[in-house]
Amino acid sequence: MAWALRHATTGELVPQVGAGATICIDYSSPNISKHLAYHHIRSTVIGHALAQIFRALGYRVVGINHLGDWGTTHGMLIAAWKRWGTPGAEAAITVDDLNALYVKFREAMKTEPALEGEGRAWFKKLEDGDPEARALWQRFRDVSWAEFQGVYDTLGIRFDEVRGESAYEAALPGVLAELRGKGLVSESDGAQVVVLEGEKTPLLLITKDGTTLYATRDLAAAEYRWDTYAFARSLYVVDRGQGLHFKQLFKTLALAGHAWAARCEHVPFGLVRLGGKKTGTRTGNVVLLKEVFREAAEDVAAKIREGNPTMAPAEEATATTVGVGAIVFANLVTQREKDVDFDWAKVLSTDGDSGPYLQYSHARCASILRRATAEFGDAPASPADAAARLSTDAEWAIARRLLDFGATVARAGAAAEPHLVCHYLLELAGDFSRGYTAGNGDASLRVLCDDATTRRARLALVEATRAAMAHGLSLLGLGAPDAM
Ligand code: ARG
Repeated sequence: MAWALRHATTGELVPQVGAGATICIDYSSPNISKHLAYHHIRSTVIGHALAQIFRALGYRVVGINHLGDWGTTHGMLIAAWKRWGTPGAEAAITVDDLNALYVKFREAMKTEPALEGEGRAWFKKLEDGDPEARALWQRFRDVSWAEFQGVYDTLGIRFDEVRGESAYEAALPGVLAELRGKGLVSESDGAQVVVLEGEKTPLLLITKDGTTLYATRDLAAAEYRWDTYAFARSLYVVDRGQGLHFKQLFKTLALAGHAWAARCEHVPFGLVRLGGKKTGTRTGNVVLLKEVFREAAEDVAAKIREGNPTMAPAEEATATTVGVGAIVFANLVTQREKDVDFDWAKVLSTDGDSGPYLQYSHARCASILRRATAEFGDAPASPADAAARLSTDAEWAIARRLLDFGATVARAGAAAEPHLVCHYLLELAGDFSRGYTAGNGDASLRVLCDDATTRRARLALVEATRAAMAHGLSLLGLGAPDAM
């Protein structure tokens, strides 16, 4: 009975179904000059988990951050800076300043309609490569990226490609010519559109003022991705509010004769509601992600300190791993399309359906293995020897669960549903705790029992559980501390 986690001959934890095929994943993709706010976390963590899952399955993954760095908004920001900014102070500008400038500009536009034209004029200059407009825009982009980068670092995320909407400016005339050549473009109230059968609203390519739009740039980006990567799948991890946009986008690409349009998928997700969230983290209406992380880590640190008042630096690092992991997991465990009700206490608890609970299970396994070495000098038995010794139903439940690991990861990839991995790990943790830790009063179920052969067999199961937990957590983007 080969219940071991790894494939008997290849040694792989999960089936290599990807066989090197390419999957593009567009995720996070925030707009510059704004904070990476809490509602961006779902795209960021779902996309990252998918990237990890597909990599484990043997795909070549291209993680793409399609930064929102182009459009009239950015003209407005320049106009706002020209009006209210301190000349020469560009170097010290912060994302906070940019947020405030934008809000102020939109407010002022209500009483001073001329401002809108000013914003447009600056965007036009930006498009035409005016050095002053370009320099300001670049500065805004750089400070925004520095802030985003801080969050990505906390989450251990690196993108394979950071290519904002601005990168497609040069390709737009070609895309428009292509669509015109295929007779797909028509005029509607002065704007250029693609009429889509069965859709109430057409896809808007160019406004009546001649400005290209988000959708136009997405057409160019889709073509670029196909030309560059010849993907097997191209995923867009974007909130479900943009469902119509992606329907129109993929339909237009199909109408233009691109068979690969069928390989493009919108991976939508629901909203995050911050019900039980503490106050004090609000800047305007936006709950900042970096503050949520900091608070989560502080809460975990406080819990650790309760048992250990002189917390070591290693434990500080663990607090961050657990705090951040708690937030990540809470965003993944709910089925993608459902809304998340964010309940702070539940998210951070170590005995609910939470990230900390899984990390605790992992640490528990690691601690049993450490004690086995320290007290008995024991190493786990080989899977074959172990299988002969497992006797209780509870042990077999763990073993059977471990057998499902690879197939579960494969299903999660096929359906683009990381929550399948979350649930698997929760079940495994449950099986493990029923098998060994909950019934500790019952000596027959203790891992570190007196009989050396049984002990080593059980240790093999503990080690396999630990490995599955560590690997599963890493697929989800969570750390797996050895001690908590
Ligand atoms: N920047 C957009 C937003 O924040 C998301 C972009 C998603 N990706 C895409 N290719 N449209 O809403």
